[in-house]
Amino acid sequence: MHNTRRIAEDVIYVGASDRRLALFENVYPIERGVSYNSYVVLDEKTVLLDTADHSVSREFLENVEAALQGRTLDYLVVNHMEPDHCAVIAEIVLRYPDVKIVGNQKTLQMIKQFYTFDADSRAVIVKDGDTLSTGKHSFTFVFAPMVHWPEVMVAFDSSNGFLFSADAFGTFGALAGNIYADELDFEGEWLDDARRYYINIVGKYGVQVMNTLKKAAALPIKMILPLHGPIWRENIGWFISKYQTWASYVPEEKGLLIVYSSIYGNTANAVDVLAAAAAGKGVKNIHIYDASKTDVSVLVSECFRYSTIVFASPTYNAEIFPKMEMLLIELKAHAFQNRDAAVIENGSWALSAGRKISEMLSSMKDVRVIAPVLSIKSSLKEEQMPLVEEMAEALARSIKG
Ligand SMILES: Cc1cc2nc3c(=O)[nH]c(=O)nc-3n(C[C@H](O)[C@H](O)[C@H](O)COP(=O)(O)O)c2cc1C
Ligand SMILES: [Fe+2]
Ligand SMILES: [Fe+2]
Repeated sequence: MHNTRRIAEDVIYVGASDRRLALFENVYPIERGVSYNSYVVLDEKTVLLDTADHSVSREFLENVEAALQGRTLDYLVVNHMEPDHCAVIAEIVLRYPDVKIVGNQKTLQMIKQFYTFDADSRAVIVKDGDTLSTGKHSFTFVFAPMVHWPEVMVAFDSSNGFLFSADAFGTFGALAGNIYADELDFEGEWLDDARRYYINIVGKYGVQVMNTLKKAAALPIKMILPLHGPIWRENIGWFISKYQTWASYVPEEKGLLIVYSSIYGNTANAVDVLAAAAAGKGVKNIHIYDASKTDVSVLVSECFRYSTIVFASPTYNAEIFPKMEMLLIELKAHAFQNRDAAVIENGSWALSAGRKISEMLSSMKDVRVIAPVLSIKSSLKEEQMPLVEEMAEALARSIKG
C-alpha cells in the first residue's frame, strides 16, 4: 500500500523510512533510523526529484506510481548521485522508459559509472543557474559542490519557493507520519542527530557549505525539502543559523566537554576530579564521555558543539589509547578547528600519550592548548591537585570568558 503525503496541491512526498539499518554508510549508528525523501511534482510535465535507497525501494516505487495517478514520468532530477538517493534510478528508467534525466555533467558521468543503461540519450544537462520549466513550475539548479559530493546541486522552484536541498538540511531519524519539522519536537528530539549528521557527513566542507548558504540567501525560500529527515516550512532561519554556526566552525555552546579513555579507571577518576574542580569554579554545562562507550560519530559531533574540550588518555603500547586516537583522527579528517583544549595523560612506565595528543591537536587549525599537560603516573595524587586546579582555572576562563 502506498504511503504518500501531499505537500502542495501538485507536490507529493514519495519518500520512505528505514528503521532496520544499524549503520548509515556502514559506519554511523542510527538508533532512530533514517528517511530517504523524494518528491513528485505534477505539472504539465511530471517531475521526480531524486530516488531513494535500495532498502526502501518497494515502498518508494509504489509511492511514485500512486503519486503520478496514472500519468507517466517525464523528468527525473538527480541532485545527488550517492546511492542512498540514486539506487533506484535504473528501475525508474525501466518503468518509465521515456523519462529524461536532469543533471549536470558530473552527474551524467557518475550515472554511467554506477549504471549501464543508455544515459546519454535521455540526459538533460544543466549548468549552474540554469532553469527548467515544466509548465507552471520552474526549477533553477544551483550547484553545491561537496555539500556532500562534487556533483551535488539543489533545485529551487521559483513558482512556490520550494528549495529541494539534497543532503543539506538533512538529518538522521526515521519519519513517522509527520513530515514537517514544525510537527515535531525538533530542538528536543532531533537536533542532536541533525548536528551529528551534518558534522560527520559534510563537516569537513564548511567553506563549500557557507558558499551554498550565501547563494541560497538570495532566494525567496518558503520551504526546504531535504533528502533526509523533516521538511522545513516554519522557523527556517533558525535551522539555517545552526548551519552557519557549524559550517564556520564556531562553537555552538560555551561548555566543557571531557572525553577520556581508561582501562582500569584511574584516568576516569582524574577527569571526575577535574570536572568537580571546574564546577567548583562556577563552570556549568559539563559533559563527560568514555571514548570506548560512546560512538566516535557522537564524540566528533559533541566536539563541534562545545567551546572547550579535555582529551584524557592512558599510554597504550607507547601510543594514545586506540579509541581516543580514532577520535583525534576523525576530528582532523573533519577539519575540526577553533577550540580551547587541555590534555591529560596516564601511564605506568613510559608516558607518551600526552605528547602525541598535543601533536595531533597542534596539526589542527586554531586548536589552542590552554593548560600544561597533566601527567598521571598510574593514579592521580593529592600533591597534583594544584595542577588540576590550574587546569580547571584555565577551563573556567575559556568558558566564562
Ligand atoms: C596493553 C597495554 C599497553 C600499555 N602500554 C603502556 C606504555 O606504553 N607506557 C606506559 O607508561 N603505560 C602503558 N600501559 C599502562 C597504562 O597506561 C597505565 O596502567 C595507566 O595508568 C592506565 O590508566 P587507567 O587506569 O585509566 O586505565 C599499558 C597498558 C596496557 C593494558
Ligand atoms: Fe550524500
Ligand atoms: Fe544522503
